[in-house]
Amino acid sequence: MKQPVEIAPNTGKLGVLLVGLGAVSTTFIAGVQAIRKGLAPPIGSLTQMGTVRLGKRTEGRAPLVRDFVPLAGLDDLVFAGWDIFEDDCYAAARTAGVLDADLLDKVRPELEAIRPWPAVFDRKYVKRLDGPNVKRGTNKRDLAEQVIADIRRFRADQQVDRLVMMWCGSTEIFMTESEAHEDLAAFERALEANDPSIPSSMVYAYAALKEGIPFGNAAPNLTTDIPALLDLASDTGSPLAGKDLKTGQTLMKTIIAPGLKARLLGLTGWYSTNILGNRDGEVLDDPESFKTKEESKKSVLDYILQPHLYPDLYGDVCHVVRINYYPPRGDNKEGWDNIDLFGWLGYPMQLKINFLCRDSILAAPIVLDVVLFLDLAKRAGWDGIQEWLSFYFKSPMHAAGLYPEHDLFIQMMKLKNTLRYLRGEELITHLGTEYYD
Ligand SMILES: NC(=O)c1ccc[n+]([C@@H]2O[C@H](COP(=O)([O-])OP(=O)(O)OC[C@H]3O[C@@H](n4cnc5c(N)ncnc54)[C@H](O)[C@@H]3O)[C@@H](O)[C@H]2O)c1
Repeated sequence: MKQPVEIAPNTGKLGVLLVGLGAVSTTFIAGVQAIRKGLAPPIGSLTQMGTVRLGKRTEGRAPLVRDFVPLAGLDDLVFAGWDIFEDDCYAAARTAGVLDADLLDKVRPELEAIRPWPAVFDRKYVKRLDGPNVKRGTNKRDLAEQVIADIRRFRADQQVDRLVMMWCGSTEIFMTESEAHEDLAAFERALEANDPSIPSSMVYAYAALKEGIPFGNAAPNLTTDIPALLDLASDTGSPLAGKDLKTGQTLMKTIIAPGLKARLLGLTGWYSTNILGNRDGEVLDDPESFKTKEESKKSVLDYILQPHLYPDLYGDVCHVVRINYYPPRGDNKEGWDNIDLFGWLGYPMQLKINFLCRDSILAAPIVLDVVLFLDLAKRAGWDGIQEWLSFYFKSPMHAAGLYPEHDLFIQMMKLKNTLRYLRGEELITHLGTEYYD
């Protein structure tokens, strides 16, 4: 047994601040309320249903993750958020159309009690959207201060002990790092000057990090992936996780691709297309928001396949990703993948995947896990990028100079070893020679 990491207790309430009360957020909140009432099990959540093996395979020790590390309990979560629409969480969940009215009615009072605060929003960054519930301010710094005031009011009114913020807002336009992002002083000057290189998501993230609040990013936006906010996170002891929840087609890609590669089967092409009819699909219909998503979805294969190490197998893969906005499907996406592969002596084969998934049903348990693990990281005294949470993201945040780890199974091993490390248990290497001595 090694020395466990000291973790502050999980007593009191955990405030969950959600930027954007759309399909993902409302499915997450309504789900937690339903689970609390015993109406449904927390399927898809590693923190609630997963186990972690400890010690040798012969020891039979495999506690539930939530018994092994001190996580906030579902009864301790209190929700709040911002949105550009005034709908309360019940109305927003009905609009999103993910969960049945029957189920929503059973948690209606709890959902109606959550009314969004006015948002920091600018159409420049999400072109397909507009709404009335928006803050006015003299500049972006003033807007950040208004967000901080919302947080402090909520903390006092609800008497929450700790907080986590998660961006579950729409995907913003594609942006890259610029001068204003280089360090905190430049960033703060840019806030005051209303610099266009600071999108709304960065204003929220700045507010959270200033308050020492962990920040997660469910979307592919640049947001905290800039030196200024990485520095601020480490100065204020705030853990970070992102970006872009790994659900649907990309989840499948990170399950299948490592398998093909493990058997050294070659690829000539991977064509992914899907139809999706929710508001997320509508926003992604704008080429600038789509580009942010496309970059996030496309990098996955390159990193998994390592074409520089396997040029004969993966040196020339044609990877195409399409998202088509098709309103009749709502949140029930349908994805098709055509994979052209080749085996022994170069003989070609094809694999087709037709995934009829529900985006927000796959996303909600991830939001829950990320919120609970970010709070755990904060109590363990960790700050900055939490690479062990890569498991949940399409574009995992990573230290400069490293390549991100995309293989779902390596990501899971990393996550579980991190939990073992936290508790002072032996890390599992899967070497296993001791069983044959
Ligand atoms: N559903 C999934 O499986 C999945 C997977 C990966 C990533 N995501 C990302 O998660 C995000 C949320 O997805 P969704 O399906 O809930 O979308 P959604 O359109 O249903 O919800 C987004 C909400 O954010 C609000 N919003 C936009 N800008 C805002 C701002 N500046 N401040 C406050 N609110 C703002 C919108 O009004 C909307 O209600 C999207 O960026 C999406 O790309 C979702």
